[in-house]
Amino acid sequence: MHRSVARLLALLLAAAVSCGFFVAAHARQLQPAHAAGASCLPRESDALLAFKQAVSDIYDNLASWQKRHKDCCRWRGVTCSNETGHVIELDIGRTYLFGKISPSLLSLEHLEYLNLNWTYLLGPDGTSLFPELLCSLSNLRHLDLSWTQFSGRLPAQLANLSNLEYLDLSNTNFSGRLPAQLANLSNFEYLDLSWTSLHGPNGRAPEFSSCKNLRHLDLRGTPLSGRVSPQFFNLSKLEYLDLSCTSMSGILTPQLGNLSNLRHLDLSSIQDIHTSDISWLTHLHFLEFLDMSDINLSGADVFLVANTIPSLKALILVSCSLPNASQLLTHVNLTKLEQLDLSSNYLGHRIETCWFWNLTSIKELTLDSTYLYGPFPDVLGGMISLQQLEFTNNGNSATITVDLKNLCDLEYLELDRSLASGNLTDFVMKLPQCSSSKLQYLSSNHNNMAGMLPNMVGHFTSLEYLYLYNNSITGAIPTGLVNCTSLQSVSLGLNQLSGQIPTLPRSLTEVDLSMNSLSGPLPSDFGAPDLTVLSLSSNYITGHVPRPICKLQNLVFLDLSRNMFVEEFPRCSSMPNLAFLYLSNNNFSGNFPPLLQKCSELTFLDLAMNKFDGALPVWIGDLVNLRFLQLNNNMFYGDIPANITSLVLLQQFSLASNNISGSIPSSLSKLIGMTLKHLPRLESRWTENRFQRLPVDILSVVMKQQELKFSGNAVIDMVSIDLSLNHLTGEIPDEITSLKGLLSLNLSWNHLGQKIPVKIGDMKSLESLDLSRNNISGEIPTSLSDLTYLSFLDLSYNNLAGRIPIGRQLDTLYAEDPSMYDGNNRLCGPTLQRNCSGSSPPEHGNQQRSENSYDQLMFFYIGLTSGFVVGLWLVFCAFLFKRAWRYAYFCLFDELCDRVYVIVVVTWGRINTKAAAG
Ligand SMILES: *[C@@H]1O[C@H](CO)[C@@H](O)[C@H](O)[C@H]1NC(C)=O
Ligand SMILES: *[C@@H]1O[C@H](CO)[C@@H](O)[C@H](O)[C@H]1NC(C)=O
Ligand SMILES: *[C@@H]1O[C@H](CO)[C@@H](O)[C@H](O)[C@H]1NC(C)=O
Ligand SMILES: *[C@@H]1O[C@H](CO)[C@@H](O)[C@H](O)[C@H]1NC(C)=O
Ligand SMILES: *[C@@H]1O[C@H](CO)[C@@H](O)[C@H](O)[C@H]1NC(C)=O
Ligand SMILES: *[C@@H]1O[C@H](CO)[C@@H](O)[C@H](O)[C@H]1NC(C)=O
Ligand SMILES: *[C@@H]1O[C@H](CO)[C@@H](O)[C@H](O)[C@H]1NC(C)=O
Repeated sequence: MHRSVARLLALLLAAAVSCGFFVAAHARQLQPAHAAGASCLPRESDALLAFKQAVSDIYDNLASWQKRHKDCCRWRGVTCSNETGHVIELDIGRTYLFGKISPSLLSLEHLEYLNLNWTYLLGPDGTSLFPELLCSLSNLRHLDLSWTQFSGRLPAQLANLSNLEYLDLSNTNFSGRLPAQLANLSNFEYLDLSWTSLHGPNGRAPEFSSCKNLRHLDLRGTPLSGRVSPQFFNLSKLEYLDLSCTSMSGILTPQLGNLSNLRHLDLSSIQDIHTSDISWLTHLHFLEFLDMSDINLSGADVFLVANTIPSLKALILVSCSLPNASQLLTHVNLTKLEQLDLSSNYLGHRIETCWFWNLTSIKELTLDSTYLYGPFPDVLGGMISLQQLEFTNNGNSATITVDLKNLCDLEYLELDRSLASGNLTDFVMKLPQCSSSKLQYLSSNHNNMAGMLPNMVGHFTSLEYLYLYNNSITGAIPTGLVNCTSLQSVSLGLNQLSGQIPTLPRSLTEVDLSMNSLSGPLPSDFGAPDLTVLSLSSNYITGHVPRPICKLQNLVFLDLSRNMFVEEFPRCSSMPNLAFLYLSNNNFSGNFPPLLQKCSELTFLDLAMNKFDGALPVWIGDLVNLRFLQLNNNMFYGDIPANITSLVLLQQFSLASNNISGSIPSSLSKLIGMTLKHLPRLESRWTENRFQRLPVDILSVVMKQQELKFSGNAVIDMVSIDLSLNHLTGEIPDEITSLKGLLSLNLSWNHLGQKIPVKIGDMKSLESLDLSRNNISGEIPTSLSDLTYLSFLDLSYNNLAGRIPIGRQLDTLYAEDPSMYDGNNRLCGPTLQRNCSGSSPPEHGNQQRSENSYDQLMFFYIGLTSGFVVGLWLVFCAFLFKRAWRYAYFCLFDELCDRVYVIVVVTWGRINTKAAAG
C-alpha cells in the first residue's frame, strides 16, 4: 500500500509537472505533412481555421494553424493527398483541446483519418453525445475518439462509415448497445471498445462474424456477457484479443486454436471460468502475450503447454489455482520470456525447484503469495535481464544469499514478509554494484533481517524508496545514506538502530525511524528541507528540539512522542501544512505551543504526558480540523475555553490529570463530531491510511479504568471525553446528553456538583461512564438503564441518593463490580439490599430527543468532501499493483466508481508495460 501510494503520487506529480512539457515535445516530434506535390485548398484551409476558432488550445498545439502559413498541408497534424491536395488526415490526438467541434469539419470531405484522442472536445451542439456529423465523413477509414469525454449511445448512422477500418472508442462513457450494423462492417481491422459501457445485442457478445479482416479486438472492461457464438472463432486474422474483465462465457473452447494468428491474448478476470483443456494453446504459434489470471487451471498442465510456444514474452497466471511450478521441463523453450507472474497461487514448494530459473530473458518476475520457501538459487544472480523481482507475502520461510551484483538492470526489489532470516550487511553488499546502479525501490519489511545497514548503501544513487521496517537491524544509521541523492522515502522503523540521527539526503520527504534505540540530541539540520513525514517516536532522543525544525515548512506529520525531549517546542512562526503532531511522553514544558495558532490543518494533536503548563488558549477553537486532542497528564491550569466547542470535528478529547478548574462549557452540542452515532466511514481513509502505516499505538485512552491503546481503524472509531483528575466545579451540563456518538465519558476525580442530567439515557453509544469522586447529588436518572452498550459504570463517592434504577445491563454491571455505587450512603434499592422508605420509583426521564439540525449535518459532510475523494483514491491505489485484485475489483464495482480511477489504473498499466518493453 505504502509504496503504491508513494509511487502513484510521484507519478501523478511527475505527470502534472511534465504535462505541458510533454505536449510541447510531442508537438515538435510531429512531422509536417507530406505535401510534396500539392498544396492545400483554400476551402479546406478555411475549414481548419474555423475549427481552430471554436476550440481553446491551452498548450498551443495548433500554433502552426495560421492563415499566414498558407499551405495548410504543412500545419501540425494535417496531411494532404499527394495527388489531389485534399486534406486526408487530421491527427490532433493528445492536444488536450477544449471546446466544440466546428461543423466546418464537414468541408473536409476527403478525410480518411481522424484522431481526436485525449481531447476534451464536445459536439457542435455543445453536448458530449456522439458528434453525428462524423457519420457524414464517408471516406473515414480511421477514427480515434479514445480518452475523450463523449458519452451516450452510438448512432446507427455510424455504420454509414462503410470504409472504416480502425475504430477506437476506448475509455469513454459511451454506453448502450453497439449498433448491429457496425459489428458487420467488413473492413474492420481494429476495434477497441475497452473500458466503455457498450454491449452487444440483447446483452450478448457481438459476433463480428462479418469482420473478416479483424486483427485487433479489445473489449476489456465492457459489460459484455453471454455466450460467444461459434462464428467468432472464424476471425482467423485476429492478432490481438482482450476479453478481460468481461462476463463472457464459452470462450475457453478448443476452437480458440483456430485463431492461429494471435499475438496477444488476455482472458484474465472473466468471471467464473475454469478449464483443464488448454491444448488449443499449442496452435497459437505466434503468441507473445498470454494472461489467463483468475481462470482455474488446476487441472491443466499449463507450463508444459506454454513451453510449446517459444514466442511467448509474457505469461501471466495470477490466481489460477496452480498446484506447483516445479514441473520438470526437459528443455525450456521459452527463451523470449520477459514477464512471468505466478502470484496468488499456493505453490508451496522449494524456490529452487521452479522451472523458470534458467530463463535469462526474464525482466519482470512476480511471485507474491506463492508460499515458495527455502533459498533462492544461485542462478538468480545470472538472470541479467531482471528489472523487477517481487516476492512478497510468502510466509517468512525463504532466504536469499545470492550474489546479485551482476543484475545491472535491477530497478525494483520487494521481499516483504517472505524471508525467514538474513543478514542485511551481506544482503546490501550483494546488491547490483554496476557503475550506475538503477535500483530505485528496495523493500524488505517484516523479514527478521539482522546485521547493520552498511555505509555503502550510499552507492545506490538511484534509490528512491528504502523500506526495512520491522527487522532486527542493529548499529547506527550509516552516514553514507546521505549519498543516496534520489532517496525520497525511508522506513527503518521497528528495528534496533542506535546512535544519533545523521544528516539525511536532501531529496527525502518521508522518514520513519520510530521504535529504535536512537539517542543523542536531534541534529540542528536534518538536511532534508522538503520533509513531509517525520516519525522519530519511541527512541531515546534527548535535549530540546532545535529551532531549525521550523524550516520544515512542508511537514504534514511530525511524531516525536516517547522520547526524552525537554524544554519548549520551538516557537516557529508557522508550519502551514502540519496536520498530525505527536509530542506525548516527553518532558516538554512551557505553554500550549503558540505555533499551533497558525496550523489550521491540524487534525491530531497529542501533547499528553509532558510538563506543559499555562492556560489553554482561546484560539484553540480556531483549529477547526482538530479531531483528536490529547492534553492529559500535563500541568495546564485555568478554565476550559468555551471556544473549544467550535471544534465541530472533535471526536476525542482528553484533558485528564491537569490542574483545570472552572466549569464544563455548556454548549457541547456544537461538537457535532461527537453527536453523530456513526462517524462517516469513507471520509477518513486518508487518516486511516496514515494510521495504518504508523508503527505506534497512536491513541491511548483511559476507559473502563484501564489504559486502552488504539491503532489503525480503531482510532477512527474512538469518540470520547476525559476530563478526570482536575478541579472542575459546577454542574454537568445537560447538553452533554446530545453527544450521542460518545463511547466513553470520564469526569471522575473533580468537584462537580448538582445532578446527573436526566436524559443521560440519550447517550446511546456510551460504553463507559465514570462520574466517581465528585459531589454529585440527587437521584440517579432511571434513563440510565437505556444505555444498553454500557459495560463500565462508576458512580462511587458522590452524594447520590434515592432509588437505584434497575435494568438488565445495570444489574449485570453491578454483579461484576459491586463497588460502583460505594460511598453514596443515601442510595437504596434492591440492588444494594437497602430498602427505600416507601416512595415509588421516580418517573422515567424525559425521552424527547434533541436531534441535530439538518444544517449542521450538511455543514459537517460538506467539510468532509475533499477527504472523501482522497479516500476513495487510496482504495484504488491499493489495487494498482496487485493486478488480480484490481481487475476483480473493477469488474465488481466498475459502475460504482468514477471513471477517473479507471483511467489512472489503465494509464499506469500502460506505463508499466512500456517500462517492461523498453
Ligand atoms: C506523398 O509523397 C511523399 C513524399 O514525396 C511520400 O513520402 C508519400 O509516401 C506520398 N504519399 C502518398 C499517399 O503517395
Ligand atoms: C492517440 O493518438 C496518438 C497520436 O496522436 C497515438 O500515438 C496514440 O496511440 C493514440 N491512442 C491513445 C490511446 O493514446
Ligand atoms: C519446444 O518447442 C518445440 C517447437 O515448438 C516443440 O516441438 C517442442 O516439443 C518443445 N519442447 C517441449 C519440451 O515442449
Ligand atoms: C539450464 O541451463 C543449463 C546451462 O545454462 C542447461 O545445461 C540446462 O539444461 C538448463 N536446464 C533446463 C531445464 O533447461
Ligand atoms: C552480518 O554479516 C557481516 C558481514 O559478513 C558480519 O560481520 C556480521 O557479523 C553479520 N551479522 C550478523 C548479525 O550475523
Ligand atoms: C559520499 O560520496 C562521496 C563521493 O563518492 C565520498 O567521498 C564520501 O565519502 C561519501 N560519503 C559518505 C558519508 O560515505
Ligand atoms: C471565542 O468565541 C467567542 C464566542 O463564540 C468569539 O466571539 C471569539 O471570537 C472567540 N475567540 C477566538 C479567539 O476564537
